[in-house]
Amino acid sequence: MFNTLKAPAPDKILALMGMYRADPRPEKVDLGVGVYKDATGLTPVMRAIKSAEKQLWDAETTKTYTALAGEPAFHAAMAELVLGAGYPADRTAALQTVGGTGACRMGFELARIANPDTTIWVSDPTWPNHLSILNFMGQAWKPYRYFDSAARTVDFEAMMADLAGVKAGDVVLLHGCCHNPTGANLTLEQWGKVADLLEAKGAMPMIDLAYQGFGDGLEEDAAGTRLIASRLPEVMIAASCSKNFGIYRERTGCLLVLGDAANRETTQSNLAFLNRQTYSFAPDHGARLVTMVLTDPALKAEWMAELEEVRNGMLGLREQLAAELRQLTNSDRFDFIAQHRGMFSRLGATPEAVEKMRVDNAIYMVGDSRLNIAGLNTKTVPLLARAIVAAGV
Ligand code: LMR
Repeated sequence: MFNTLKAPAPDKILALMGMYRADPRPEKVDLGVGVYKDATGLTPVMRAIKSAEKQLWDAETTKTYTALAGEPAFHAAMAELVLGAGYPADRTAALQTVGGTGACRMGFELARIANPDTTIWVSDPTWPNHLSILNFMGQAWKPYRYFDSAARTVDFEAMMADLAGVKAGDVVLLHGCCHNPTGANLTLEQWGKVADLLEAKGAMPMIDLAYQGFGDGLEEDAAGTRLIASRLPEVMIAASCSKNFGIYRERTGCLLVLGDAANRETTQSNLAFLNRQTYSFAPDHGARLVTMVLTDPALKAEWMAELEEVRNGMLGLREQLAAELRQLTNSDRFDFIAQHRGMFSRLGATPEAVEKMRVDNAIYMVGDSRLNIAGLNTKTVPLLARAIVAAGV
């Protein structure tokens, strides 16, 4: 029966990762998949994570199963990180998931169980895997305009005009910070207007928070999410630990679901059920490390300091790239790179120009000209700037 199988459309980001690995040119630069690299091109294990791993190696006496929905200590630590101290624990159900992707998938599944007629509204553009998962599930979705490709800013008017079509019971997927793929983010005032609209419509926000700490800071990057959580009666948040804890391959994420306190237990049991039907228990190792880091003041301080180094490094690279391009083009056309936040910016180059940079300069970026700033270093920035100009962007 396997003869009936057709090859699925390749994931553009992961296909690029394979092409990069196969490229023998030593000068190659990977600006594709969203992974942080330090000045030497490595993706290090963060210092606090390494210390927690050592402690865990000494202290752990068993590998037996944990709780089906994940450890309550992990839930509490993540809820506090995302929603802040004093978050409404009585209204918050939580699920330990297989990465942020798992949290997104479980959130979509929960919404579908709760309202089989729901439509999930997704920013255009968005992380391609959002759409891929929704299509695979056969879940109805609609795009809302988000990005002004000429100005490389959020097209808020268009976004609000499209979201005016949202119906009660629909889900609106928002990027909590560091929008992937554009790097263009809502201001807090705009978050407030989105909250007003969703409240008036009776729609539910679902926030994908994959880059907390990579934009303007841990607290600042959660501000929009917290505003929404304080205003709307029901909210889902898919939080990833892959990037801000640097534990990509451990697959650690958390789905937070805020709703009626009276219904919390039922929601919680639905979340555990979803884990059981899909893979039983989520992986433990990464979640345990995250819990240790977030609940031990010394480890937490060490983690926050390193995360700040990473964030400031990315901001510095943004400034440097914008400055190089300003000089090379004698214009401020690329100043948006310094204004965007997070790992990504969408350059606005044609697929042909992106391909030219790959062929001529061994620079790899996603075909929509999404650029992973965290894949650069001070030496590769000038190379990229020259390649951008040579490709006629
Ligand atoms: C990305 O957008 O590059 C990351 O979120 C990694 C992934 O899984 O696609």
